[in-house]
Amino acid sequence: MKLHIILIGFMGTGKTTVGTIIAETLSRQMVDTDQYLEEKRGKTIPDIFRDEGEARFRDCEHNVLKELIQSPKPLVITTGGGIVLRKDNVKLMQNSGFVVALTASRNALIERLQHDASRPLLQGDLAQRIDRLLTERRNAYDFAHFKVDTTDKTPDEVAQIIVAQC
Ligand code: S3P
Repeated sequence: MKLHIILIGFMGTGKTTVGTIIAETLSRQMVDTDQYLEEKRGKTIPDIFRDEGEARFRDCEHNVLKELIQSPKPLVITTGGGIVLRKDNVKLMQNSGFVVALTASRNALIERLQHDASRPLLQGDLAQRIDRLLTERRNAYDFAHFKVDTTDKTPDEVAQIIVAQC
């Protein structure tokens, strides 16, 4: 299969871990939009949020996505959880790759994210922030071509399920 494999999903669904396994299995390069942006800008995502604001971060995220999908080499692209907030990103992803949405239960997300203080949108009461964002993004990941619930699965199991579809 020649298309990019694009992983979307809420923070904590395991996109980067699963993407790394898929890339190894299929001998492809994996690029994470957040990591790529951090390297390009020489600045961490929290610093971009703090210094430039979320709107500017979303513009940078969009530009990175546009650049990556133009790669002639089929990539595994893992994305930040909010990339789906822009309609133009949704279109770009739908038209240029096999889009896989990873999901997880609210409790699994809280458990996975509780020891990671790095995410700008999850500062403060974690459960409250997650609940609010889950509500705001209720149907935002539904456009994916394929969905995997990661709640009770290991990253290896999730990756195998996705590879079997490719
Ligand atoms: C965000 C998710 C983060 C990162 C940024 C914003 C979001 O990526 O892009 O903090 O809006 O959901 P992960 O989903 O990899 O945590």
